[in-house]
Amino acid sequence: MSEKKHSVLIDEKSVSITLFVPLCPKAVETKRKNPVIVDQKAVEILENIDFDTKPYLQKRSYHAAITRTWILDSEVRQFIEQNPNCKIINLGCGLDTRICRVDNKLLKWFDIDFPDVIELRRKFFDETDRIKFISKSITDFSWIDDVDVKTNEKVLIIAEGLLGYFEESDIKEIFDQLVERIPQGEILFTVLHKFLVGKEITKGTKFRWGLENAEDILKIDDRMKIIKVWRISDYFKNRQTFLMRVLSLLTSTVKDLNRILHLKLNNSV
Ligand SMILES: C[S@@+](CC[C@H](N)C(=O)[O-])C[C@H]1O[C@@H](n2cnc3c(N)ncnc32)[C@H](O)[C@@H]1O
Repeated sequence: MSEKKHSVLIDEKSVSITLFVPLCPKAVETKRKNPVIVDQKAVEILENIDFDTKPYLQKRSYHAAITRTWILDSEVRQFIEQNPNCKIINLGCGLDTRICRVDNKLLKWFDIDFPDVIELRRKFFDETDRIKFISKSITDFSWIDDVDVKTNEKVLIIAEGLLGYFEESDIKEIFDQLVERIPQGEILFTVLHKFLVGKEITKGTKFRWGLENAEDILKIDDRMKIIKVWRISDYFKNRQTFLMRVLSLLTSTVKDLNRILHLKLNNSV
């Protein structure tokens, strides 16, 4: 390995290492013929890292990683077009590269993750007066003070590939804090089917939360309102494994394994 490559000082048994699970497919897809998404930054990161990422390129999550990037890029762009001076809060940012694709040079963007992840992120991304890094667990709710949301500000929270790692009690607390303290905000998040709870994603890290029906999110907090739900299995079917295509036809559980929800945080605001 070249000396210029960056080391990864992240415990491979920690949840932080899951950041490679969405990053690797994005780099691979970019180099494919007729890619669904183009993510040159992901390619650059993986070319400059001194770490064996092969175990994190998982066939079973490739399609979901690419499709959710495609959907979320479009939704985030639309929100930014409608609210050019917005604040975007990227919870559990990992080495997500969306800011490189959607920045309008006006918005303010906050990347929040554990200190070991933010330390790695600093090797590839610059913090500026508009793009801020917050090295905290998202259950340390002082990050909401750091973001300093004003009442009239438009805010979009993104939680991509994050909430599946929390117990339901934490999920309730997270949504309660968001609804109470950023009531004018909207959230876009990926959600797994309950069926995947207990399944291992990387060595030592299992999924702990999911929803059977998308509407069940309102049992977590009924002040929220669902704006839209996407089912990942509905997209790019020709790129899904044969097994997934067949199983999706047979059971709604498989159809709903990966979804994206867009919510208004407080319906009365
Ligand atoms: C599967 S990765 C997704 C990364 C990124 N959102 C993306 O889609 O590329 C999950 C990320 O959530 C972060 N994470 C998990 N639990 C967290 C917590 N309590 N506080 C902050 N970040 C957390 C991990 O460190 C990791 O970077």
